[in-house]
Amino acid sequence: MRQKHSDYMHWAKTQSKARFNLATSGVGSFPLRDLPYDGTKLEINGDNSYGYVPLKRAIAERAGVDPDCVVTAAGTSFANYLAMAALLDPGDEVLIEHPAYGLLVDAARYIGAEVKRFARREENGYALEAEEVRRVISPRTRLIVVTNLHNPSSVPAGEPDLREVVELARSVGARVLVDEVYLDAIYQDTPRSSFHLGPEVVVTNSLTKVYGVSGLRCGWILAHPDLARAMWQLNNLFAATPVHPGELMSVAAFEHLDILREQARRVVEADRVLLNEFLERESNVSAVRTRWGTTCFLRLLEGDVDGFLERLRAEFETSAVPGRFFEMPGHFRIGMGVNTEMFAEGLGRISRALNQAPLLLP
Ligand SMILES: Cc1ncc(COP(=O)(O)O)c(C=O)c1O
Repeated sequence: MRQKHSDYMHWAKTQSKARFNLATSGVGSFPLRDLPYDGTKLEINGDNSYGYVPLKRAIAERAGVDPDCVVTAAGTSFANYLAMAALLDPGDEVLIEHPAYGLLVDAARYIGAEVKRFARREENGYALEAEEVRRVISPRTRLIVVTNLHNPSSVPAGEPDLREVVELARSVGARVLVDEVYLDAIYQDTPRSSFHLGPEVVVTNSLTKVYGVSGLRCGWILAHPDLARAMWQLNNLFAATPVHPGELMSVAAFEHLDILREQARRVVEADRVLLNEFLERESNVSAVRTRWGTTCFLRLLEGDVDGFLERLRAEFETSAVPGRFFEMPGHFRIGMGVNTEMFAEGLGRISRALNQAPLLLP
């Protein structure tokens, strides 16, 4: 039986909330009242059989690609699923980074692909290393999946490494799926999309994590036009037609993206200062530190993470994501960019939980 659910998503929807919620991955909500938007222009129905042209143009322009390469989808979630469903058949071999965002693995397995893993090693700062891909790639490999920035660690993948991975994929006739939902959290000298590295590359993205407008579900895939057309055809079996009011508001968000991004940037940067101070003083955890990104993946040096996080939530009203959802049960992930006061208090409570109460041994 194929697995027809996601443990992580269910946990995130039902167990992650707390007064001091550090179990986030995206920035805080951008309120509609702050978006320069003329509500009288909102409409229910529109010409969007294969996506609303002004939205496809806005996505294409920002990414520097042809609008024929754009497939819109409900969030990066559905973009990832649609891309994989178009690229993979049951039994196909897919290589997915480890640790990984669980839904990428769940979606590939649901499609019936044979999932193999390549390591992003903590001791190497979770870098994307072509050597690790080379170790597991085979003539049967159809797809290689990476996140950039990496979820959970927020470590960026360098263009030379990505290029090498693309060349490896090319050598066996495979494609590379790069989930770039966190890429724009590199606020300075933001790298261009990996889409430009070759026709083998398929990119997914959305406005959810870095821009604070998750509710619009404005996601997309960038793919070579032939592949993009195939994805639109497959989508006729799934979502068929997008939600038009969402498309209109997404166009408005694109017109003011820099306002959305800057507002969140201030919070992320203030939070990172606090995070670095916390990591300096805490000897019970270690982490690969990054300059950018909305998440940090911490190793608990002693004790059982699930027990610790349960206690953190019950006694300290603070939540974080258990590492088991990234197949790293000795770790946990915290998120920045929502609210600096909340983040500061959450970190303080993690410190208290780490230092005042006895750690549970495994
Ligand atoms: C790597 C990655 N891809 C996709 C998603 C889902 O994004 P969206 O909210 O756009 O569906 C997440 C959410 O946490 C994520 O971490």
